[in-house]
Amino acid sequence: MTTWNLQGTVSHLLICNGSDCKKHKGEEVADAIEDEIGKQGANSLIHTTVTRCNGRCSDACVVISYPEGVWYRDITPKSAKSLVRKVLKGERLEENVLYTYEEGLKAVNPKGAKGKKKK
Ligand code: FES
Repeated sequence: MTTWNLQGTVSHLLICNGSDCKKHKGEEVADAIEDEIGKQGANSLIHTTVTRCNGRCSDACVVISYPEGVWYRDITPKSAKSLVRKVLKGERLEENVLYTYEEGLKAVNPKGAKGKKKK
């Protein structure tokens, strides 16, 4: 168990490692993100959490970035490294954006509007 002092964190990446995301290299994505954070010397800037399913399995591997509230789809170990570099510049990995947060999640990619309706 660890208790980090998270003051100064500018981004929190939630990396899905539910079963479908794991089938799409979710563990390798998590490793790639950690590696790139280390290479960039950004351990105190980007915090990561590996999660269970985030409910968008057809978009595996899913990574969510807060505080901006951007959901990314189809993240691979290679694009994961690009994502870290973009986040550090305050930018988005545009080609993988699924949802943005604008008074609620808004689909940016047409895939984001597909799926079961929640009751
Ligand atoms: S397993 Fe990642 S969204 Fe479902």
